[in-house]
Amino acid sequence: MKAIVQTAYGPPEQVLRPAEVKRPVPGKGEVLVRVAATGVNTPDWIAIAGEPRMLRRRSDLRAPGAIRGTDLAGVVEAIGADVTDLREGDRVFGSVWTSKITTTGTFAEYTVARADRVMRLPEAIDTVEAGAAVMSGLTALCAIRQTARARPGQKVLINGASGGVGTFAVQLAALEGAEVTAVCGPSNVDLVAELGAARVLDYTRGDFTSEAGHYDVILDNVMNHPPRRVARALAEGGVLMPNSVGNSGGLLAGLPRMGRAALMGRLGRTDVRFVSTEHNREDLSVLAGLLESGGLKVVLDRTYGFEEIPKAVARMFSHRARGNIAVTVP
Ligand SMILES: NC(=O)c1ccc[n+]([C@@H]2O[C@H](COP(=O)([O-])OP(=O)(O)OC[C@H]3O[C@@H](n4cnc5c(N)ncnc54)[C@H](OP(=O)(O)O)[C@@H]3O)[C@@H](O)[C@H]2O)c1
Repeated sequence: MKAIVQTAYGPPEQVLRPAEVKRPVPGKGEVLVRVAATGVNTPDWIAIAGEPRMLRRRSDLRAPGAIRGTDLAGVVEAIGADVTDLREGDRVFGSVWTSKITTTGTFAEYTVARADRVMRLPEAIDTVEAGAAVMSGLTALCAIRQTARARPGQKVLINGASGGVGTFAVQLAALEGAEVTAVCGPSNVDLVAELGAARVLDYTRGDFTSEAGHYDVILDNVMNHPPRRVARALAEGGVLMPNSVGNSGGLLAGLPRMGRAALMGRLGRTDVRFVSTEHNREDLSVLAGLLESGGLKVVLDRTYGFEEIPKAVARMFSHRARGNIAVTVP
């Protein structure tokens, strides 16, 4: 089958190459999916950049021959042993994410997924939108509904509101009846307002961390401010969700900030909650239901062709995508 294979670490246009590789075989509890669409997400960026270098020791980040990509929409080609609830020919969407970064991912004609990580895709949902929405949609769902348990009337701030996770989080918080403040760059102000933000802060004109004691919930998808400063913007009893490994300054800047946020939580003065997404069928069903009803819209930055995957990943590296990055697979 055709795949886009990582040959080394570095800029995507230098280290991602088309290749012919062996088609994978589904094992027990797995399905082989012919991929029709996929997306690009943070784990792809981390694994392809391979910085800081110590990360390269992790087996899931080992580069030569790795196929990245986690999200999928496509058609079941074959089923493994013990899979009873899916059939060949089913149109599905889901994820190959398990908690490790994949080396046998969705930047390929075929991929193997655990059957409990995919579900039949409702007719009304577009394949490309579904393929690009999985990780960012499930992350936003987990953050707003399961982790923060946002409630009507709460003041919820989303930093990084115009990216894949942010555009879903703004919509989900507004659907819960929260009063949403969206923080983004000047070119995305109209977009996030249309998605349901009651207030929009352009970060080139103001700094939300100066609004002391204001927010019940903060989802920080950028972490461009020290967590202690972000926490000052929380009202009494407010919840801080640090959710970035560093799109501002890379992992070397992001990981220590996540560490400091974790420490703040352990010291007990701030309610710090990390967003830990399962990618299971239950959550996929909730996401599918919201997409099917039209309650949740997928904002697509751009749709790339299969051979353009290096360009699509470079777009992720820029951290300037407006919504989700989509890729179609022939
Ligand atoms: N917990 C999980 O399972 C999980 C899963 C996936 C992703 N994530 C995290 O979620 C975060 C968001 O991911 P994403 O895929 O939505 O997109 P992303 O490309 O990482 O972020 C895009 C957003 O970041 C903003 N941004 C970029 N640089 C900025 C800066 N220097 N200052 C202020 N804002 C800046 C952009 O604003 P403008 O373009 O408007 O300027 C845009 O809103 C990532 O940090 C990632 O680590 C977590």
